[in-house]
Amino acid sequence: LRVVVLISGSGSNLQALIDAIESNSLPGVEIALVVSNKAGALGMQRALKHKIAALYLPWRTREEWEAKLSDLLRLFQADMIVLAGFMRILSSKFIERYPQGIINLHPALIPDDGAGETYTTSDGNIIPVFRGMHAPRQALEAGVAITGSTVHYVVPEVDAGPPICRREVIIEDGDTEDSLQERIKLVEHHLIVEAIRLLQQRTS
Ligand code: GRF
Repeated sequence: LRVVVLISGSGSNLQALIDAIESNSLPGVEIALVVSNKAGALGMQRALKHKIAALYLPWRTREEWEAKLSDLLRLFQADMIVLAGFMRILSSKFIERYPQGIINLHPALIPDDGAGETYTTSDGNIIPVFRGMHAPRQALEAGVAITGSTVHYVVPEVDAGPPICRREVIIEDGDTEDSLQERIKLVEHHLIVEAIRLLQQRTS
C-alpha cells in the first residue's frame, strides 16, 4: 500500500506512521510522498530525516493545487491519500475521483453514518458532533465529558465521512484547549496506525 500523506504543520501523526513502518508494525505499507501546503512545515523535515520524499506545494488556487497533486499521485503511484493535519479543504470534484481513497484524521467523534449531528458515547451520553478546525475547543465549550478522535473516509462534506476507527478521550478537570488537543494527539498516534492497518487488510 503506497500512501501519500498531506500535512500543513507539525506532522506528529506522520511521525507515528513513520515509526510504525520502521518498526515493522505496518508490513507492506510505504509512505510514497509527503506533501505540505505550508513552507517549512516540521512534518517535511520529519519525512526527509527518514529519507521519505517531501514536497512543499504552495496553495495558490485550489484547482491548481489539486491538478498538481493529481500528477504527483500518478507519478508516485499512490494507492491512498492520508490527510494528517492538513488544514485545507479539497473540492468535491477531486474527492469524487478517489472513492474511498482519501482518509482524514479528525479530533472529535464522528458517528457511524458519518454525516449525523449527534454521537452516543460509551457512557450513553448523546453529544454534538464537533466539525471544523476547532473541535477540541468546541468540546470544552459544550461541556461534554468525553470527546475523541476519528479516522474517516473523506467525502465532499467536511469531517463527515464514514468512520474507519475512532477512540474516546476523557475530558479532565482543568483541561485547556491545548492540554486536550495534546491528549487527543497521543491517542491519534495509535489511531492513524490502526486505520492504515485496517485499510491494508481490506485492500489486500
Ligand atoms: C491532529 O489533531 C488532527 O486530528 C488534526 O490536526 C492535528 C494534526 O497534528 N486534523 P499533527 O500535525 O499530526 O501533529
